Amino acid sequence: MISQISSFEQYQEAYNQSVTDPEGFWAEVAQNFQWRKPWKKTLEWDFATANTKWFVGGKMNITENALDRHLATRGDQAAIIWESNDPEEESITLTYKMLHQKVCQFANVLKKHGAKKGDRICIYMPMIPELAIAVLACARIGAIHSVVFGGFSAQSIADRINDAQCNIVITSDGSFRGNKEIALKSTVDDALVQCSSVQKVIVSTRTRTPVSMIKGRDVWWENEVKTVSSDCPAEEMDAEDMLFILYTSGSTGKPKGVVHTCGGYMVYATYTFANVFQYQPEQVHFCTADIGWITGHSYIVYGPLCQGATTLIFEGIPTYPDAGRFWDVIDKHKVDILYTAPTAIRSLMSFGNQFVENKDLSSLKTLGSVGEPINEEAWHWYDENIGKGKCPIVDTWWQTETGGIMISPIAGVTKTKPAYATLPLPGVQPILVDEQGNEILGNGVSGNLCIKFPWPGIIRTTYGDHERCIQTYFSTYKNLYFTGDGCMRDEDGYYRITGRVDDVMNVSGHRIGTAEVENAINMHLGVIESAVVGYPHDIKGQGIYAYVICDSQMEDQALIRKDILATVTRLIGPIAKPDKIQFVSGLPKTRSGKIMRRILRKVAEGETSNIGDTSTLLDPLVVEEIIGGAL
Ligand code: PRX
Repeated sequence: MISQISSFEQYQEAYNQSVTDPEGFWAEVAQNFQWRKPWKKTLEWDFATANTKWFVGGKMNITENALDRHLATRGDQAAIIWESNDPEEESITLTYKMLHQKVCQFANVLKKHGAKKGDRICIYMPMIPELAIAVLACARIGAIHSVVFGGFSAQSIADRINDAQCNIVITSDGSFRGNKEIALKSTVDDALVQCSSVQKVIVSTRTRTPVSMIKGRDVWWENEVKTVSSDCPAEEMDAEDMLFILYTSGSTGKPKGVVHTCGGYMVYATYTFANVFQYQPEQVHFCTADIGWITGHSYIVYGPLCQGATTLIFEGIPTYPDAGRFWDVIDKHKVDILYTAPTAIRSLMSFGNQFVENKDLSSLKTLGSVGEPINEEAWHWYDENIGKGKCPIVDTWWQTETGGIMISPIAGVTKTKPAYATLPLPGVQPILVDEQGNEILGNGVSGNLCIKFPWPGIIRTTYGDHERCIQTYFSTYKNLYFTGDGCMRDEDGYYRITGRVDDVMNVSGHRIGTAEVENAINMHLGVIESAVVGYPHDIKGQGIYAYVICDSQMEDQALIRKDILATVTRLIGPIAKPDKIQFVSGLPKTRSGKIMRRILRKVAEGETSNIGDTSTLLDPLVVEEIIGGAL
């Protein structure tokens, strides 16, 4: 098991070692894992070509580290506790032994249907134990999983399946979310009309919603597991073989498939899990994210299981049956660590304190926050009402591309400061740069956040398009990984992430590209052009504001607004629906045709007078119209 930093002096020592001798530092951490063959070289890297390799030549399988090696020592300990959407439904506990068996069995089902090392498998499932089992079963046989969040549309699934040429899809009949029942299999069926690479669909049952099962293509999970053995030796993987693809939004074009590889990701997810949360044996870790996002991959599945932890999977939502649900789950399962998003905290805070006052939260030791900047008010509410002033809050900054937490307090070790992600973890070398890429030295400064040295969890490529990886992350500033985030470093050297500086929005902790939403809106009949920006939103952090130019024949605006929302939902999913749509006759463009988003952002923020220089605009009058019609 990974040893933990337990004092600030130890942190400083570890940090210094990780900078002066990164290879030695990570080699020592990696010794705590089970390798089939040791690596020959700890690190090879070149940011100019976006090439990073960790533990070169090492052979392993992440599931042997997440499952097999715990069997002798904690086989009967809970690996997964599952809590249903319905508080009346009995929860499920899977011990390490049971989970191991189920993963092996399902891995054999995958093999039976032709899956092999290197194949891409799409997973579109609710938050049920089978989702974690499916993920681990892929890893067991060396197939690359591509989990698609259950809220995405058929079109989004199809785009992701086609991009990675997946040959198998694992899904469920449906999912329960609050008082809603959501069809999943039929959404997959709609997607597959466009996907010729898919040979098999494996369907687990959750809602018992009637579904069509296509002969020769679709099989039931429950039937299949009965036909196979539960003995499945893990495939030997190279440290740099792909483990998974996870699609995420950027400034331009369609979401890209961020690729993580087996060895470095395992070491980094586990190291950060063990240290940031200071997980102690027997504790219950409750990360409220969906496994469809990176937070779920790293801190529900891989990090906790590789450290032999008990991880809680919650199927439901924080407000069902009422806004006290998280607190009930914490009391029921005696949760030690809660890891959630500011948007959830703000939403629960808005219900007032009556849902939390009479709950027993005494089991809590550590609170975590992730996904977006946490405002001070939410930080204090979390601290006082949930942590009762005695649980450290770890505000963890990281990204899909970083694989694990990068800048964060270490619970109980780093002195926290409201709304600050505080200090870089060992192995992480952040720098702030100005627009030209010059390093901004000293404290009490702000700039664009970059990382100047590789860490084991760094993105390896964007699936099928390495050039895009170079362009997106390693070209803006020479020899630096560019995060896309703005950041300040205060007088104490503490980091505070201020938000994206590119055209990516962060809506309820979900990353959505403005271009993606614009493309979806522009698909609607009668829409000529659109521009989308984020604006401050009390609960979601950012809301989506769309400026739309329609065909003059489109007269019933209320109806078109609804049609546009339906179009975005169909093409991306409900999470990308604009909160506000303003119809305009033109957009503020420069003479070279570039939309001046700065102006649109200001108007969306409610600014009417101080919108800056408009002299370079092709038609400055457009701005007056936009301000006049602002929502
Ligand atoms: O803008 C930052 C914000 O979320 C972005 C990454 O989004 P995603 O890849 O979906 O991963 C989310 C979960 C790791 C970042 O570029 N972000 C994430 N954590 C924080 C944050 N912003 C401020 N504070 C954080 N703790």
